[in-house]
Amino acid sequence: LKNKHAEATQLLRASIAHFPTTTLNFDEKVEIFTDGALIVKGNTIQDVGDYLSMHTRYPDAVINDYSGKWILPGLIDSHLHYPQTQSIANYGDQLLSWLENYTFPAEMAFEDEAHAAHIAKVFLNQLLKNGTTTGFVFTTVHASSSQALFRAASDINMAIVAGKVCMDRHCPSNLQDTPALAQRESADLIDEWHNKGRNKYALTPRFAPTSSDAQLAAIGELASQYTDVFIQTHLSENHDEIAWVKSLFPSANGYLDVYDKYNLVRERAVFGHGIHLNQEEWERLGEARATIAFCPTSNLFLGSGLFNMEQARASNVHVALATDVGAGTTFNMFKTYGDAYKVSQLRNAPISPLEGFYLMTQGAAAAHKLDDEIGNLNPGTAADFIVVEPRFDELTALRIDKDALFKDVFFALSILGDDRMIEETWISGQCCYSKKENLDAMA
Ligand code: GUN
Ligand code: ZN
Repeated sequence: LKNKHAEATQLLRASIAHFPTTTLNFDEKVEIFTDGALIVKGNTIQDVGDYLSMHTRYPDAVINDYSGKWILPGLIDSHLHYPQTQSIANYGDQLLSWLENYTFPAEMAFEDEAHAAHIAKVFLNQLLKNGTTTGFVFTTVHASSSQALFRAASDINMAIVAGKVCMDRHCPSNLQDTPALAQRESADLIDEWHNKGRNKYALTPRFAPTSSDAQLAAIGELASQYTDVFIQTHLSENHDEIAWVKSLFPSANGYLDVYDKYNLVRERAVFGHGIHLNQEEWERLGEARATIAFCPTSNLFLGSGLFNMEQARASNVHVALATDVGAGTTFNMFKTYGDAYKVSQLRNAPISPLEGFYLMTQGAAAAHKLDDEIGNLNPGTAADFIVVEPRFDELTALRIDKDALFKDVFFALSILGDDRMIEETWISGQCCYSKKENLDAMA
């Protein structure tokens, strides 16, 4: 969609909520403007505040009136797999047989570059229509599948974090690379894409069972060489997986230690799941300032277990919410928090709505050291934001009062919502998705 006023200063009037700073005090630090305005100029946010003061300060701004709706920072999905878009929602298995039966076959198809380009487009569409403006994305072993995703994201100036999956054993032979190939292709992709435009690279060993020691060492060398790239992998998701890792790495002191030996536990390392960790592992993750991606819909779908948010808080471990599509069952981050809430209820320690909102915006951005670009609506950050219509159908209009508090709106939508609540998704100051125009296009 073309933005008619790309050059002009724009004032978007709406209710606004975000966390301007990093905090553990969610109730006090959430910033809310009931009648607010966001000032957008070019690809960045210029200002945010009350409508009246913004209107006075920017009298010449072009006004877009979204009164009655909420403007929020674009949502961050901290762990998901774009090649699994088509294999979402497959019945019957837990992790290891699910990988064999559904996931590896789906990933083989990405040898075909046209297929990769097609699925990359569908995938980004799903993110946009659900309000997600940054994803931490696993591709496949094929370097060209990373190229396809970075190209599609670059077309809309979207900040994507992604990397080529590295695996050299315990998977079909046509999905295997080698230590040397994994190192060379990852390094080439870093040189071509990392910090080019808004793209960012993540070294992506799939998980310990599919990488030899030699491959983990080769990736660890790159991690030492490129200190600001991301690292993403899986950790302690499933009991059979954990037993397997123990048998494959008998000299390691636990699952996390396999990664730690190769310099892969640090800031900007994002570990999917972390459901069955011991005390020592929790402490090590906290000390290293690494991040756990909590993927509740996936953990329930694969029967993996109930993430322990209280333990994460106690160990000062960064946590970010994530869908983990295609083991995850939705692209929608609101619904993902809805399931995180249900998991936390089963542990008798409910995660509050404002904490949930934090874990998909500022909290995630701060964990990834990206909060000067995304995660909030602060002046100078990228104009990545969403417009939410809380009363999008008969039931939500009945349940959610016009003047309901933000935390109640957010919670009700997390339980009742779907992509119909997302009116618009803006990236780098451009409206890249509009529900209205999308419906028109389908008609
Ligand atoms: N562990 C290794 N690979 C995967 C994957 O693709 N999805 C999930 N959920 N866990 C994994
Ligand atoms: Zn995953």
